[in-house]
Amino acid sequence: MQTAECLNHLAPYLFVQIDAKKAALVDQGIDVISLAVGDPDMPTPDHVVDAMAEAIRKPANHQYPDYAGSLEYREACAEYMKRRFNVTLDPRTEVLALIGSKEGIAHLHTAFVDPGDYVLAPAIGYPVYSGGATLQSANTYFMPMNKENGFLADFDDIPEDLLAKAKIMFLGYPNNPTGACATDEYFDKAIAFCLEHDLLLAHDNAYCDICYDGYVAPSILERPHAMECCIEFYSLSKSYNMTGWRIGFACGNAEAVQALGTVKNNLDSGQFTAIQEAAIAALTGPQDCVAEMCAIYQRRRDLVVDALRAIGVTCESPKATIYVWAKVPDGETSESFATKLLEEAHVVVTPGNGYGPEGEGYVRISLTTPDDRLLEAVERIKSLV
Ligand SMILES: Cc1ncc(COP(=O)(O)O)c(C=O)c1O
Repeated sequence: MQTAECLNHLAPYLFVQIDAKKAALVDQGIDVISLAVGDPDMPTPDHVVDAMAEAIRKPANHQYPDYAGSLEYREACAEYMKRRFNVTLDPRTEVLALIGSKEGIAHLHTAFVDPGDYVLAPAIGYPVYSGGATLQSANTYFMPMNKENGFLADFDDIPEDLLAKAKIMFLGYPNNPTGACATDEYFDKAIAFCLEHDLLLAHDNAYCDICYDGYVAPSILERPHAMECCIEFYSLSKSYNMTGWRIGFACGNAEAVQALGTVKNNLDSGQFTAIQEAAIAALTGPQDCVAEMCAIYQRRRDLVVDALRAIGVTCESPKATIYVWAKVPDGETSESFATKLLEEAHVVVTPGNGYGPEGEGYVRISLTTPDDRLLEAVERIKSLV
């Protein structure tokens, strides 16, 4: 049996070594606190669960779903985009249901990238942007992204020959893992660049609803000319604590949305209609739950940032996302600092180098741990001083 060559080129699993060390400590009966996973600890709002309970009893929902998503779901997505960003979309041609945004992001490569092509991905980012290219036997050009450029991926100096083979530019702000947020000027520059070089701009907006201190994250589709070259990915996972439900949507340029839909028509048969009905309740129902959740994350963010600063670790206080991106102390690497926190404080964080070439020298701390455990982790980190 021979597996496809492309599988040999996938980046090694992010957590291999840390996971092994964590398992060894847990085996010894040690209480280890994980601040590594970006999976909300709070429950899905009641009105969404209630909508699901009702929807699951409808026999019509037990049949194959609409491949592109029910029209009602796509209308709810369009309504959300209008209410949240004042972006007007045609639900029939400019919105597509996804089985989680990860699925859509990964399959976008199948729709746009041939073997030997390039995708442009931030040098620190969600691993699926480059992993999806690898699975198409395509290549990734990592756009420089660092503290000096405000973690806004730099596309100014991409070699011409490589640019000629590029098909998609991936961006994602508010950013996982750095917490950076984009400016309108940056989005405008990226749109102009993609139009000039005939690229699809794929913007990942998974964290747009998790904002702090009054910040309101935008959609790239608000910007002039965006509908000419952009597709944007939305996820209900973080906005409504629905990671396990697997529901999201893609929207934007009709040609891009249709191309992704064509790939999906050939691969899956759509998301369970009952889940789409629950998602309609989330997108169009009361939104207080989102504000309440953001207040909890904001308090946790402050706890973590204070604790890190108390032990001399440099980090920005993010305006959005559920992550704190922290510089490791001098003399440490991402891996060594994560190992030290694990072995000496029994706290798990994610080494930044797992997010791409420029993630070295950082660790990512997730705010999705219940308050009492987070406080305990923070005390343990502080006691390292
Ligand atoms: C930046 C980013 N994009 C997309 C996703 C995928 O989210 P989902 O597939 O749950 O919608 C995640 C999940 O953590 C993420 O961090």
